[in-house]
Amino acid sequence: MIRKGFIYTITIDDIGHKGEGVGKINGIPVFVDGGIPGDELKIRTTKVKKNYAFGELKEILKPSKDRVTPRCPLADSCGGCQIMQMDYTAQLKIKKNRVQETLKRIGKIHSPVFDVIGMEEPYEYRNKAQFPIGWKGNRPVMGFYRSGSHEIVDTNRCFIQDPVNNKLLSFMKGFILDYGLSVYDEHTGKGLLRHFITRVSQWNGDVMVIVVLNGQEIPHQETLIKEILQLEPKIKTIAVNRNLKKTNVIYGEETEVIYGEGYIVDRLGEREFMISPRSFFQVNSIQTEVLYKTALDYCDLTGEETVIDLYCGIGTISLFLTEKAKKVYGIEIVPEAIEDAKRNCRLNGIENAEFLLGKAEEEAPKLFEQGVSADVVVVDPPRKGCEEKVLETIVEMEPKKIVYVSCNPSTLARDLEILEGKGYETKRVQPVDLFCHSAHIETVTLLTKRG
Ligand SMILES: C[S@@+](CC[C@H](N)C(=O)[O-])C[C@H]1O[C@@H](n2cnc3c(N)ncnc32)[C@H](O)[C@@H]1O
Repeated sequence: MIRKGFIYTITIDDIGHKGEGVGKINGIPVFVDGGIPGDELKIRTTKVKKNYAFGELKEILKPSKDRVTPRCPLADSCGGCQIMQMDYTAQLKIKKNRVQETLKRIGKIHSPVFDVIGMEEPYEYRNKAQFPIGWKGNRPVMGFYRSGSHEIVDTNRCFIQDPVNNKLLSFMKGFILDYGLSVYDEHTGKGLLRHFITRVSQWNGDVMVIVVLNGQEIPHQETLIKEILQLEPKIKTIAVNRNLKKTNVIYGEETEVIYGEGYIVDRLGEREFMISPRSFFQVNSIQTEVLYKTALDYCDLTGEETVIDLYCGIGTISLFLTEKAKKVYGIEIVPEAIEDAKRNCRLNGIENAEFLLGKAEEEAPKLFEQGVSADVVVVDPPRKGCEEKVLETIVEMEPKKIVYVSCNPSTLARDLEILEGKGYETKRVQPVDLFCHSAHIETVTLLTKRG
């Protein structure tokens, strides 16, 4: 038994899915923010449930051999990087272990998991910054939230961000002060500026800026455009997004381009991609190329296959697949992303792809009813994984291979178990580190049809 508010000594032996250290007291798992495997800690229990508990780190009694001084001075308080105090090689080992254990525990999948493909230089990799804007004392604050809270940890230099994103962050804070702009307050629902989003093409340096407003327009808009362009001439698009709701959801429905073409262009492999303000594009371009090349390898195409790419976004994986498939269908729910996917086909001179707007769980069954079947299906769903209807339709189509790209090992495990129960076998599981220093991990899995 564990008691709340008491001091304990604990040895951390794992990390949880939010990056917290996990150890056991009297056989009960206890989650401790800031603990890493191998640490011996003095903690105070803050919350005790029947089967688990939470503790607050009081003192590191004996540090883990993998403990390092994080490059970022805010690493302990900021919720952006949860495991920066761990040596990078150890991070990769622990992530592999987490994928393996999650597949076993949730999905009863015992296939071996390959070593995680990590980055040579795991810093400044993020092409996109998405900073909430707040106010503290007499100045604006911008940064990631503190772990498990909505308190903004103010920063001027985030070590995993592309330097251009940091430069624009500092500029925006100065502009807010200079022109007395108001900042959104989550509690009252009042104030104008909500989020500041910047995205840089790590191929040609093009930059996009989006300001999310609780209102219609930015005061001194023309001055903002002039000054920000003086600072960063590679800005190709500036947009405002209007979100008037009292909600944690970042974007509202309405986006208006107030400067430029309304997109930037990035390149992955041999393909170029136009990206609009609301379209999904992986945040780590270097590792995304590794991820997609692995997915393409697993598809092992000969040029004769029809491939369906579910949850296709702006067609990034689809366009990789067109190199080697006869025909590719992409399905995606966001209209702007589908428009981008079609434009991206034209941009790359691709004629063997077709993109359908709608929910994967509705459009895939329709496609099947129309007589379209797939030799290979690729899925890359959001964190909640695939809808059951999607998995059912895939099974009915009887593809020889399914390639599952996932950003959440738990829902991957759940979905793999369903597919294994319906005649598929998990053959290869390759994690790729797209989110260095955070607890997240991306995985490509190959399943083949039994018999
Ligand atoms: C993890 S992203 C993958 C996008 C793309 N494959 C890529 O790598 O850039 C998941 C995508 O699924 C889309 N999405 C979410 N729910 C969906 C649904 N029910 N049907 C189709 N697409 C959906 C999102 O808009 C997003 O573009």
